[in-house]
Amino acid sequence: MADETIEALLLEQRKFPPSAAFKKNALVVGTHLYDEANADYEAFWSRQAEELVSWSTPWSQTCDWNLPFSKWFVGGTLNVAYNCLDRHVEAGRGNKVAIHWEGEPGDTRTITYAELLSEVERFSNVLRGLGVVRGDRINIYLPMIPEAVVAMLACARIGAAHSVVFGGFSSQALADRINDASAKVLITADGGWRRGDVFPLKPQADEAVASTPSIEHVVVVKRGNNDVSMKAGRDHWYHELMATADPKCAAEPMDSEQLLFLLYTSGTTGKPKGIMHTTGGYLTHVTYTHKYVFDLHPETDVYWCTADVGWVTGHSYIVYGPLSNGATQVIYEGVPNFPGNDRLWSIIAKYGVTIFYTAPTAIRTFMKWGTQEPAKHDLSSLRVIGSVGEPINPEAWMWYHEHIGRGNCPIVDTWWQTETGGIMISPLPGATTTKPGSATFALPGVGAEVVDEAGNTVTKGGGYLTLTNPWPGMLRGIWGDPERYKETYWSRFPGRYFAGDGAKLDDDGYLWLLGRVDDVMNVSGHRISTTEVESALVSHPSVAEAAVVGANDATTGQAIIAYVTLRGGAEVNETDLRNHVAKEIGAIAKPKTIYFTPDLPKTRSGKIMRRLLRDVAEGRNLGDTTTLADASVVTELQNRAAQSSED
Ligand code: WT7
Repeated sequence: MADETIEALLLEQRKFPPSAAFKKNALVVGTHLYDEANADYEAFWSRQAEELVSWSTPWSQTCDWNLPFSKWFVGGTLNVAYNCLDRHVEAGRGNKVAIHWEGEPGDTRTITYAELLSEVERFSNVLRGLGVVRGDRINIYLPMIPEAVVAMLACARIGAAHSVVFGGFSSQALADRINDASAKVLITADGGWRRGDVFPLKPQADEAVASTPSIEHVVVVKRGNNDVSMKAGRDHWYHELMATADPKCAAEPMDSEQLLFLLYTSGTTGKPKGIMHTTGGYLTHVTYTHKYVFDLHPETDVYWCTADVGWVTGHSYIVYGPLSNGATQVIYEGVPNFPGNDRLWSIIAKYGVTIFYTAPTAIRTFMKWGTQEPAKHDLSSLRVIGSVGEPINPEAWMWYHEHIGRGNCPIVDTWWQTETGGIMISPLPGATTTKPGSATFALPGVGAEVVDEAGNTVTKGGGYLTLTNPWPGMLRGIWGDPERYKETYWSRFPGRYFAGDGAKLDDDGYLWLLGRVDDVMNVSGHRISTTEVESALVSHPSVAEAAVVGANDATTGQAIIAYVTLRGGAEVNETDLRNHVAKEIGAIAKPKTIYFTPDLPKTRSGKIMRRLLRDVAEGRNLGDTTTLADASVVTELQNRAAQSSED
């Protein structure tokens, strides 16, 4: 046991096969897609590209693999906006709703495919009028409003690459990203709605643009109605430019490897990396996964992904995947607790949402708010529910299953990354028996293997997650830094893509994600995943959320320190909780200290900042806290840590 790379301690026994009723209408039941892909994964992807995507010119080579650089559908041409819009309108589905948009204050917009196409055509001409040409980079810094989708698709239509920066990022973060990409135009808004207030964007954008010499024009959408200053010649109102724009803009074919977008992701160290995604392979990957992972029936489904377009989930599973598939979807502007803690459930009931895709951090927050919130609304329209972003603890999975899925929706726990472009590991809802907390298996077409320290394949137990084959949606590199691309992803295990995540395989060959490997603790020579201890803590009925870190310890190397948030009204003492972990995992995993806290420090995308908690636990000064959503949480924890060391 002790020589396993990462010990697999938690044993989950519950199994959930798809119901007969679900299988009856499911797109995939049985193993035929897996069999086909296992026989020849390139041929498999080639069939998907042919069936799911419309091409202007066919490709001559499916995959050009020059490790670690891949090209897909080489020589083929297509237009992504054509695939997401025109082809549905041409097929007579122009009046189908593309977007049910719900603003936070309660205002709504219903946008059909024909209307979305027309808006995108106009905005494409606006961009051209501002001097944008094929190959340029455009920055987008917008709230969750339909114009964000329009702006992205207009870029795609004319062959400019977008770089979307999440609206919660600071002006400095925006400036860094604009400068790294040398973007020509910035598209922003006066402000957006968040928790009942307008948050300003244009003033931040002004601050950023003061130090971004490449920006020639700023386009401003009116949303918040907050006061902004407009610099003559540089700044333009979106609605004014749109009013005079030419309504027709043909979708020109782009090379399959044309840069579609850059999206910046922060590693644990160093400056953010501009992850490059291209056209034909990416569109194939997201269209395929959106269709089969969610069992999409576009005629009847109403799909909703709660991510922000500023993250890759918003790119792949709000914009490109769903629109390419001709889906009807909900987009919501605001926070889940405005005006009440039941806002999301009221939206599901209002629009009859059938497929719902959210993140574990959100699910644990819903647990904290209590089951009475979803119980207020009719959620019976739901038929598939999904999770992405972090390992989902088995108890959060069960809560999601019972209280949102009402016991009869398959859960798709989807593992992927900004770098992978689309979902890589996930159940197929009509074909896979799920286990709470396991992302189950690599999708058809994807090669995933767990390896040990030396790179040998592990068939049972813990290790490092690697990808063995190129895949169409894979990143094509890091903008401006091919060496860093090779080093970050391809040097740790030669010939393999290293995702940076720990994983384990159980007796049945199911994959369990164990979090980033830098979240692995070493306690008395035992490598223990923070995720497993967190899951054990969260399995206690009083606990809503837990973050675990390893802090330096003279005796044990690292000691397990836990930060725990309790469910509303619940109480438990530290000793009972430590014993509970011992019972669930073993005495080795018992936290040395447990701090109770009303909140955990998180990034704006909801990831727990374990690095900060480690700093707090080890009494260090805090490093970079700029990505923290709420800094007061950490100050409070620091005060408490100082107090307890005086005790
Ligand atoms: C990292 C990638 C993919 C879109 C959102 C995050 C973690 C993601 C899962 C999952 C366990 C997951 C991994 C991964 N992760 N999904 N289903 N189970 N872990 O994108 O910001 O690029 O983060 O998120 O650690 O490496 P990202």
